[in-house]
Amino acid sequence: MSSLVIVGAQWGDEGKGKVVDLFAAHADVVVRFQGGNNAGHTLVVGNERTIVHLMPAGVLHAQATCVIGNGVVIDPAVLCGEIDELRRRGYLADPAQLKIDERAHLILPVHRAIDVASEEQAGAGRIGTTGRGIGPCYEDKMARRGLRVVDLLDPEWFRRRLDALLAVRNPALERLGRPAADADAICRELLAYGERLAPHVTDTSLYLADQVERGRRILFEGAHGSMLDIDHGTYPFVTSSNVVTGAVGTGAGIPPRHVSRVLGISKAYTTRVGGGPFPTELDDEVGAKLREVGVEFGSTTGRPRRCGWFDAVVVRQAARLSGMSGIALTKLDVLSGLPKLKIAVAYECDGKRFERVPAGMRDLESAKPVYEELDGWTEDIGPVRRFEELPAAARRYIARIEELTATPVTLISVGAEREETILLRDPFLV
Ligand code: GDP
Ligand code: IMO
Ligand code: MG
Repeated sequence: MSSLVIVGAQWGDEGKGKVVDLFAAHADVVVRFQGGNNAGHTLVVGNERTIVHLMPAGVLHAQATCVIGNGVVIDPAVLCGEIDELRRRGYLADPAQLKIDERAHLILPVHRAIDVASEEQAGAGRIGTTGRGIGPCYEDKMARRGLRVVDLLDPEWFRRRLDALLAVRNPALERLGRPAADADAICRELLAYGERLAPHVTDTSLYLADQVERGRRILFEGAHGSMLDIDHGTYPFVTSSNVVTGAVGTGAGIPPRHVSRVLGISKAYTTRVGGGPFPTELDDEVGAKLREVGVEFGSTTGRPRRCGWFDAVVVRQAARLSGMSGIALTKLDVLSGLPKLKIAVAYECDGKRFERVPAGMRDLESAKPVYEELDGWTEDIGPVRRFEELPAAARRYIARIEELTATPVTLISVGAEREETILLRDPFLV
């Protein structure tokens, strides 16, 4: 059995979708194991651009079975919309290509309403969530009042569980100045989606165990980025799930020993969307240029992404947390034309030097990056397909990232398109 985990090594939007789509050609199964439709993963093939939010990014490859694991939170309206759109475009012709775990929790309209209203109420202290109801849904899961995919198949039980959930959530909504949710309307809407999703619903943990037994190639598709992990990220400016490699075990229902390789995806610079500290953020013309050339606008919400220099402290930490066996370095093309490039190698916080990301928010907010400066290059590297053909300065930049993160760069992405890639090693084998 050979498995590969793809994880985001920064604050999300590193290009995970592109890499998963590329490797899905060689995979039997592609599995989402955490998060929900707060993710937006972009796949570009020729002139066709697809953004998936819940559907695993292997979906364009008919031979790759797509699994939505128990750790994912599912908004059935969004998932049905994605299925419809993909079918309309000729994908997902065989319903057996998609498997949805029966234990995955459901995002209800009430979760979305609470997410949006509590962000509004938080004012300047808001997290800048995607407003998709992710946090409130995971809260209900942990509070043991959530509704799950399996409940959609039992209308009487669904209604009973929904009433119990609304007994807690409706007063909360009213306190936030929003109208209470209507149980009848939710039942009608959700149970109709349930009928549509039913043919895909199964015990995916059991399915994956069987795939492991048969020696199949499994690709685990992480969402978000390590610094958004609920435990290891820049709390409280994080998402509500674990996103590091360790989440594969619980979120897909497989023993961690089945994870053989981990590829961390990192941009050649850094971006962040939403609130929270970002030590290497550039509030100047370089930041604006990165945003413009890199088209740094959120795939889910369209918000402009904050941009900054490559932060080796962050990626080194991600490599340690997730046991990254390699880095896929994306968007290297975006740096072309910058005369000098900076890399943060450490932080200084209140006179103290940090080689790791400090846990304390006040330390992190005051963190001054310690920069190293490297030469840039002017060549357009979009057409390059072999490492040796990259400008010497680009090769030096990559080598320095490898040293600082103690992790080899095994893939370089020089454009959004599937083929705009320099592959140095087979990710399933290295
Ligand atoms: P994900 O959430 O990690 O899958 O990343 P997103 O899809 O949200 O954001 C990455 C963006 O960068 C998308 O618009 C991609 O099409 C684009 N992209 C990915 N790799 C490259 C690259 O190497 N160069 C350029 N210029 N764009 C890229
Ligand atoms: P992908 O998979 C970038 C951020 C939000 C916000 C915080 C909490 O495309 O890389 P949430 O809605 O999850 O409660 O928001 O997390 N965030 C992401 N940022 N890419 C993502 O996913 C993200 N998923 C969540 O912007 O700051
Ligand atoms: Mg994204």
